Amino acid sequence: MTRTRVRFGCEQCGAEASKWVGRCADCGEWGSVVQVAADLLEATNSAVMLPDSVARPVPLGGVDVASSQRLSTGIAELDRVLGGGLVPGSVTLLGGEPGVGKSTILLQALLAMTRQGHTALLIAAEESPQQVRMRAERLGELNDRLLVVAETSVPYVLAHAASVAPQVLVVDSIQTVHDPDAPGVPGSVTQVRDSAQALVRFAKESGTAVVLVGHVTKEGSIAGPRVLEHLVDTVLQFEGDRHFALRMLRALKHRFGRTDELGLFEMLESGLEEVVDASAMLLTDRQAGATGSVVVPLIEGSRPLLVEVQALVAPTSAPMPRRQAQSFDGGRLAMLTAVLQRRCRLSLAQMDVYASVVGGVKIAETGADLAVAIAIASSVLERPLPAQSVVLGEVGLGGELRSVPQAARRLQEAARIGFLRAIVPESTPPVPGIELIRARDVSEALHLGLSPAPRS
Ligand code: TYD
Ligand code: MG
Repeated sequence: MTRTRVRFGCEQCGAEASKWVGRCADCGEWGSVVQVAADLLEATNSAVMLPDSVARPVPLGGVDVASSQRLSTGIAELDRVLGGGLVPGSVTLLGGEPGVGKSTILLQALLAMTRQGHTALLIAAEESPQQVRMRAERLGELNDRLLVVAETSVPYVLAHAASVAPQVLVVDSIQTVHDPDAPGVPGSVTQVRDSAQALVRFAKESGTAVVLVGHVTKEGSIAGPRVLEHLVDTVLQFEGDRHFALRMLRALKHRFGRTDELGLFEMLESGLEEVVDASAMLLTDRQAGATGSVVVPLIEGSRPLLVEVQALVAPTSAPMPRRQAQSFDGGRLAMLTAVLQRRCRLSLAQMDVYASVVGGVKIAETGADLAVAIAIASSVLERPLPAQSVVLGEVGLGGELRSVPQAARRLQEAARIGFLRAIVPESTPPVPGIELIRARDVSEALHLGLSPAPRS
């Protein structure tokens, strides 16, 4: 047994004293020296007994990784984004706008996983089991290892999950379940957070892989997924334009892997199909040689993707001409328009300028600047870009062109699809299979790139 030593300390300045004194020797305060909890100090050193259930520190090399073996979802593009599959005991949030296909992709994954012999439980909080069955029939075979229940009460959800003990639990959606003991209506921030917390606890305790569906509105605002992001292990975002078949899945947060992978799907009558050649798919309906149309090789996730950007320039008498961008940053469009006006002497002052990206792909990188600029110039000058050309480069305020990351991979992809020429910044190194037309600035790129004006 350790002998408890009595210690004294000043409440004012924290100085220690070996015996009680009326005035602190350090700060001079009267009556501030008191006996400090020596037994408390001793207690933190030795008296706390760790119960057996508490994990002990282990050498890093001795950490067991077998327990984090991933469950393949049976959908290669989904596994790619997840870094191999769902991690048991983890919670994944699948966010996306209504109608993008969240319920569809998860049902397809559950059908595939149950086919592999796993047991899955689908909590249908938005739809009836009949609707789920009809969708499953549309997607392919039914499977008795997939259990479904229409339930919105969180305690009942947990009870069902405990009795079924599935490997995967899907809750569709987190906004429509509610905890009767928590305040607020279903879908409110407190309800969504409390419900998610209960499901996170269940996942950790049971080792079940839990997937929560969360609706996000166009503005990305709703009292839902955003408040959940720090509670869950993985946040997946499912995107795509309703009017196009292409769907993109990416990880915004992932505790078990990279976040730069992109999954590509096509929404068909028979469900989501994995896209093997996205570039070819995106360019199918393109009218090569049309004015205002330019193809740009992007990097989406970790793979190259060719997309078409279009611009339309139309005269207006409005005092404030429009600069309107779709799936592209509006500020960037305004800046590129200004560069064309000031550095290339294009008269756009009395013109509306529209730019859009075909196929519902959102461009968030500056590597598409030159493509947008050339598309605008092509439209206003009525000079097309010769077919079989792509355009790549960032544009600075001086009109100068800057190289973009991974140019070689992008240009290789363009060559693979059959493009013969690329208009690129001067510093771009050669790439086999594609002719590079190097330009210093936007003016030069327009001069070298666009076909001569049609003779009238
Ligand atoms: P859904 O998965 O219900 O979207 P979410 O759960 O994100 O709200 O899918 C919605 C759309 O997908 C709907 O408009 C119909 C369409 N769809 C298909 O085109 N093919 C299919 O096989 C299925 C099941 C749905
Ligand atoms: Mg749904």
